[in-house]
Amino acid sequence: MNAGPMLSRRQLLELTAAGTAAALMAGWGLRRGGAAGPLPWQRRAQPLGSGAIEAASRIRSRNGLLQLQLVAERLAGPWPDGPRQVLAYNGLVPGPTLELWPGDTVAITLINRLDQPTNLHFHGLHISPAGQADNIFLSVAPGARQEYRFRLPVDHPSGLFYYHPHHHGTVADQVFGGLGGAIVVRGGLDDLPDLANVPTSLVILKDFSLRQPPTGWHPGPMGARMRGRVGPLLTVNGERTTKLDIPARGWLRLRLLNAANARVYRLALSDGTPLLQISSDGGALEEPLAQQQLLLAPGERADVLVGSGGNGGRQRSLLSLPYSTFGRPMLAGPPQADRHQGQARPQPLLHLRDPGGQPPQLPGRLLAHAPLGPPVRQRRFRFSHGMRPGHGMQFLINGQSFDHHRIDAAVKLNSIEEWELLNVGMMDHPFHLHVNAFQVVEHNGQPPALQGWKDTVLLQPGDQLRIRIPFNDFSGRTVFHCHNLDHEDLGMMGLVEISD
Ligand code: C2O
Ligand code: CU
Ligand code: CU
Repeated sequence: MNAGPMLSRRQLLELTAAGTAAALMAGWGLRRGGAAGPLPWQRRAQPLGSGAIEAASRIRSRNGLLQLQLVAERLAGPWPDGPRQVLAYNGLVPGPTLELWPGDTVAITLINRLDQPTNLHFHGLHISPAGQADNIFLSVAPGARQEYRFRLPVDHPSGLFYYHPHHHGTVADQVFGGLGGAIVVRGGLDDLPDLANVPTSLVILKDFSLRQPPTGWHPGPMGARMRGRVGPLLTVNGERTTKLDIPARGWLRLRLLNAANARVYRLALSDGTPLLQISSDGGALEEPLAQQQLLLAPGERADVLVGSGGNGGRQRSLLSLPYSTFGRPMLAGPPQADRHQGQARPQPLLHLRDPGGQPPQLPGRLLAHAPLGPPVRQRRFRFSHGMRPGHGMQFLINGQSFDHHRIDAAVKLNSIEEWELLNVGMMDHPFHLHVNAFQVVEHNGQPPALQGWKDTVLLQPGDQLRIRIPFNDFSGRTVFHCHNLDHEDLGMMGLVEISD
């Protein structure tokens, strides 16, 4: 079922075509009647911003409770040269940042003012997949509301997590439209004496379409969905360019989140100095890891430190480098522009003002991980794609498309499993598992460079990974899937049932 050169000439044109506005307009119109005042999308969404603005859009837990309402709605886009409309939580792109501590309770009322069903997923959090917690099988109809309520375990790792819609079939539409936000669980590295006073900025990476009017949350042409929708407008916290200050003789800590629908970011500093990674998806690394380039797939997070004086005290930038999500150059692929997600040249994401001077020495050790025991069970999952007559492109795991009646992995609660993940197709597939983090123990036969907790890991064409997963604390049904969200909506997802 693994297709060879699977893009027809017509599909290639679709990848770059402006799209058919009329078709995309279909299904709107309905909400026009009734209410006086501006239509929702005549109000303008606000970028989450950085610095002072970020502080205003950050919602912190108080006395152990983080309580808020999240209103999902369509608003006018905030950029003059961007899409005319975006999808926003509480009027913000990305949505407000939720900041909490292990042991806190989270109570969210989600209000759906979209014209399609939605829900919430708490990407990376180790919480129950059932009830009103990380339950992606809930469906919140247009106009309806849903209460979410859960308590973070007291020993929950600290780090950067991510909330976004997860209603199967419309996830990519809604995330590409702009829905999603960061969750910061405090503690851990924040309290290390060498890092406690390091200025920290949240950096949420998200790309947008330029389509005028309708933006990309409405299913695009099949060609674009196969690749996974990407857009040429690269934003950081909803802004086109952001300036940040590195302290003199000091470090700046960036909490990076790839909140894009399908874009894989390839990040580097403009002066060639490495990014010093101190945290991965699931929390602190045991020791800092120097990364000349950092690949960040959709859903992945990384904390990095940038030290002063890297470029003799001159301004530097964090760059997005061209990257292709189609591998195997020997195979006929799409034209060059698409091979690089529409980005032909390095593009600055952040301007870093650098007053120079050597930063202080960092500790060689960060936070120790508890050792992970041997697995009691092995499984293997092959990621592929192919044409199915009458159904178009299918994205498959072990040859099957997602079926919510079929359990793909029946797992015993509190056991450790080892999964082998194989990408036998031609495109990148970022693998993601809900509820439980894992460690990569082998990448193409070698121990991986990064030793840390992950919940999302990029599978490039031909990759073979072994991961170890402790399925601890929570029983119930949840999923693993490709975090190219168009692929997920097109079936590249499997069901896990964890039971006692
Ligand atoms: Cu970030 Cu199942 O997703
Ligand atoms: Cu997730
Ligand atoms: Cu994929």
